[in-house]
Amino acid sequence: MTGPSSPSSTASHPASAAQPWRASPCAALTGVVRVPGDKSMSHRALLLGALAVGRTTVSGLLESEDVIATAGAVTAMGARAVDRGEGNWEIDGVGIGGLAEPQQALDFGNSGTGCRLMMGVVAGHPITATFIGDASLSRRPMKRITDPLSQMGARFAGPEGGTLPITLTGATPPLPLTYTLPVASAQVKSAVLLAGLSAPGQTTVLEPVRTRDHTENMLRAFGCEVAVDEGPHGIHAVRVTGECELTPTHVDVPADPSSAAFPLVAALLVEGSDVLARDVMVNPLRAGLFAVLKEMGADISFENERETGGERVADIRARFSSLKGIEVPPEGAASMIDEYPVLAVAAAFAEGRTVMRGLEELRVKESDRISATVAMLEACGAEVEELEDGMIVTGRGGRISGGGHVLTGMDHRIAMSAVVAGLAADNAVTIDDAAMIATSFPAFRDLMTGLGAQIAPANG
Ligand code: S3P
Repeated sequence: MTGPSSPSSTASHPASAAQPWRASPCAALTGVVRVPGDKSMSHRALLLGALAVGRTTVSGLLESEDVIATAGAVTAMGARAVDRGEGNWEIDGVGIGGLAEPQQALDFGNSGTGCRLMMGVVAGHPITATFIGDASLSRRPMKRITDPLSQMGARFAGPEGGTLPITLTGATPPLPLTYTLPVASAQVKSAVLLAGLSAPGQTTVLEPVRTRDHTENMLRAFGCEVAVDEGPHGIHAVRVTGECELTPTHVDVPADPSSAAFPLVAALLVEGSDVLARDVMVNPLRAGLFAVLKEMGADISFENERETGGERVADIRARFSSLKGIEVPPEGAASMIDEYPVLAVAAAFAEGRTVMRGLEELRVKESDRISATVAMLEACGAEVEELEDGMIVTGRGGRISGGGHVLTGMDHRIAMSAVVAGLAADNAVTIDDAAMIATSFPAFRDLMTGLGAQIAPANG
């Protein structure tokens, strides 16, 4: 691919804005929390709201940098997303095919989800848009998106390696496609399905490994037919019929299980703790971490299980526990893909070996999350071995020395996991930069200190 050169000013967090933090060993964490809205659902609510005809309302939207970038992008294309305060938003949708060409490049900051899903949306519109992001997003692979969307007729210009910046010209109309996912990625599945909304006929994604199904669930809530059936060898076929009309609806976004993981794991590790996280989405394709923690001996329970807006929700209670190492089943990786850094911290406090494999995808997240997690644990004095597709953590039954300095590598989940380690270790842990936490969990520090955590600016 050829095209625009790399923009110099897209990094959302210039080096001068680094925010070093110190997380110190603390007494019991106790209390009830409501972590912010689910990130995956928040992006999708904005995108589907923009594609519906008329006004969609959203409550509980995650107001983090990643999601605000998606709100900015839909607004730049003529579907006004308006903040009504306290997580309530309105989106005036323009209908499938109705988005206007943006006047400027769409800057997705750190967000792979916002960028990749929006590529699927734009691929179904007769417009051209340039996609840019920060230094982390600009390193991440986009060929997994541009390949299927090219087969549907979209055209791309960008660097040879298939990274941002990329200029996309949509197909008019896109061709319906049957596509087998080469990697277990809900982002790729969603991009193809979203482009398929503009295609005449049926677009099918075949999933050898099931991934989070929020796009499917939310499309149904907007009145679009989505069929899912299991074929030979357990391969799931997800089909949308294009040229439908999306009916505006209300989306109530439950709390994000990937964010709830941090206070809940901290409660398991800090002696005497008892924390309840309310309204957490526990879709089985997202809740793998909690099952694995139970297997490790965690005192963790779902209370008040219910369904809201097509998703399962529960209050999750975690109490201080003695954990033991286990072999984490690789086939469950997709259901907890964002939780491995904090699981690795839990493993460092367990007794014995925890083996985590089948995690090749972690190498292409906001950072190379296998290397970054291994380096984080080593800095905290834990025993860990890096594998090509995962890691083995050997815990010594409840203690790690801490005292280290962790490089977060522009990765919010490495930053928050290192903080959790510092709260339970024998000595404080510092991180080089907490700024990226705002991409997914802006109130992280306030919420954690409200439970009794000791987290402060490291140079303060
Ligand atoms: C997401 C899917 C996952 C996940 C990401 C959010 C989504 O990525 O890591 O944080 O909302 O679809 P992949 O689909 O690339 O695995």
